[in-house]
Amino acid sequence: MGIMIKDLIESNDLISVPNSKHALPAKAEDLVMLAEEEVEQVTLPVIDISLLTSGSVDQRSQIIEDLRNACLHWGFFMVTNHGVPESLKEELINSCMKFFDLSPEEKSVYDGENASDPCILNPIVCGTNFNPASESVSFWRDYLRILMHPVFNSPAKPEGLSEALSEYGERSREIMKELVRVIMEGLELEEEDIEESLELNSGVQKFSANLYPPCPQPELAIGLPAHADRGLLTLLIQNDVGGLQIKNKGKWVAVNAIPNSIMVNTGDHMEIFSNGKYKGVLHRAVVNNKKTRISLVMTNGPSTETYAT
Ligand code: SIN
Ligand code: FE2
Repeated sequence: MGIMIKDLIESNDLISVPNSKHALPAKAEDLVMLAEEEVEQVTLPVIDISLLTSGSVDQRSQIIEDLRNACLHWGFFMVTNHGVPESLKEELINSCMKFFDLSPEEKSVYDGENASDPCILNPIVCGTNFNPASESVSFWRDYLRILMHPVFNSPAKPEGLSEALSEYGERSREIMKELVRVIMEGLELEEEDIEESLELNSGVQKFSANLYPPCPQPELAIGLPAHADRGLLTLLIQNDVGGLQIKNKGKWVAVNAIPNSIMVNTGDHMEIFSNGKYKGVLHRAVVNNKKTRISLVMTNGPSTETYAT
């Protein structure tokens, strides 16, 4: 694998993006954050999912309606009262940070040079998008990707990662399933038929930890270029450093997590299952020159039989 940014920073005093030709490609829109681009900070819809089970009939209907509007107008929303303890979230963030702190030799066990997505044969992959030979934009992200379900995997180190990952994996799958059911209810699709075809139980769940170390020239780099996610719903938690932007009504806007919440977005498979009503929304991650950002993402898609991963 190429040298990870985390390790590059450790061994150098970086003042510029290595080997960048300091020129962005002509068709850079959507790929990078343009220097002169004004990006507004927005607040996403907030959905209290505890009301789905413990609320009154009216409260439950209101949440279904709120979810419908959030999917329709944003494709992104924040979920609160989801039952995942803050301590678990912190434990997971900290142990993922520690994973990236492992030595290059320890991480090279999971070298993902020739692997695309993790699959049954390649369930744990770590690597970087950084390529010092790149002549255009620099990709400023190290990552760890893990297949979580139907077979749970975890790196052995650091201590505590496996437990936190397994616990969060289970809980986030339950949240995903509940949200998908309720979103389908809001679309007035028959729940019975839909459960099977959505493969809510047999579907693949994947985890990605994205590490965005401080970048000496953030205007010349992008953490993650614009993309839409593949699955039904993606669940995202992060540390307290912002960087996620989404395309809303043709404009890039910055979104920040609110405390104690999980960010959720619709993916391409939701777009298909909703007959195009709910889009897989474009989003990207920008970097900054001060603080390391980490985002932890769970994606949920079809089973391996349906869709080779
Ligand atoms: C992702 O799209 O997978 C992650 C985006 C982020 O880091 O916020
Ligand atoms: Fe994404």
